[in-house]
Amino acid sequence: MGLCSHMFKILRRGKYFVLLVLLLSVLAWIATFSGETEKAVLVSPATTLTLVKEDSLRDKVNTLTTAPDRLNTPPQKVDCPQESPLLQGAMKLSFESSLKLKDVENDNKGVIEGEYEPSDCAARQSVAILIPHRNRERHLLYLLHHLHPFLQRQQLHYTIYVIQQAGDATFNRAKLLNVGYLEALKDYSWECFIFHDVDLVPENDHNLYICDNQPKHLVVGRNATGYKLRYKGYFGGVTAMTRDQFLQVNGFSNTYWGWGGEDDDLRIRVELQKMKIVRPPADVARYTMVFHKRDSGNEINKDRMRLLGRTPQVWRKDGLNSCSYKTLSVERLPLYVNVTVDIGKPQS
Ligand SMILES: *[C@@H]1O[C@H](CO)[C@@H](O)[C@H](O)[C@H]1NC(C)=O
Ligand SMILES: *[C@@H]1O[C@H](CO)[C@@H](O)[C@H](O)[C@H]1NC(C)=O
Repeated sequence: MGLCSHMFKILRRGKYFVLLVLLLSVLAWIATFSGETEKAVLVSPATTLTLVKEDSLRDKVNTLTTAPDRLNTPPQKVDCPQESPLLQGAMKLSFESSLKLKDVENDNKGVIEGEYEPSDCAARQSVAILIPHRNRERHLLYLLHHLHPFLQRQQLHYTIYVIQQAGDATFNRAKLLNVGYLEALKDYSWECFIFHDVDLVPENDHNLYICDNQPKHLVVGRNATGYKLRYKGYFGGVTAMTRDQFLQVNGFSNTYWGWGGEDDDLRIRVELQKMKIVRPPADVARYTMVFHKRDSGNEINKDRMRLLGRTPQVWRKDGLNSCSYKTLSVERLPLYVNVTVDIGKPQS
């Protein structure tokens, strides 16, 4: 009898077990289903692309921007304040010839592989800083020395990318910046991009490295020009555009080899989209330009006026959607990501 009742109990439990399994499967099915709809809602309103109709490019950027984020931020942080309490205003900059990379690394322990985010609050924007580079190690060192603490005082989440042109063909700043944009989006869905010359160091941390609802030009003045705008409409040196603004103008032209013109070309693209360039106040948007001679391999681009004339006709076909290059290496160094690329050479 003891055996019988034991068997009976097991059978009864078995029935409950089957019921339990059924119930769990139903729950699991509901969970996956609602998870999918949630994902679908999150993906659909991605980029509000209006004028560039290249779907393949849009798809490419969308897949890039939905790449998994490398930092697993705990969700609990409160937003950083509207104005960072750490800002110091105008600073006296130093350019010590004895400065070493190791010193800058030691001063910036919170930076890991070029990336930083505030530990005690959620940054208001995630910003990729793109610096085109070749043979300017000293300038880069000074810039890193000043820029890292500057960005940390602004309480930003950022990564510094150095886009290194391989080989010795004529320099192409604009194409390197297109590459930087595409490569940085493989790491994280940055909402804002700062296109930054290596020899310009910001003097005042109220010059915020965040994006606006219009493209922003950050260099009103520099010591080399008596802190005056170089010319009306100047849009070079350091500029800030959102991911979508840059996509909307199809990025920079890839065809400007040598010094000059590519920044005016970007201004024309921005104006064609009826966007308006904004600037911070002149007393804030000040830079020190570290002295250098014109590099060999970056001679004045004599063709720039002709190129500028055809921008309205060619911008849709010449830009992010036609930027072909070969990534040779991506080195994640303590203070920056070094993306080294072969971008080809000018067509004769
Ligand atoms: C601007 O300041 C930098 C750093 O002190 C210096 O190297 C450069 O010569 C200055 N330029 C001018 C035109 O004063
Ligand atoms: C970037 O990496 C390339 C390839 O290793 C190297 O030649 C170049 O010096 C590096 N540039 C910087 C600024 O670290």
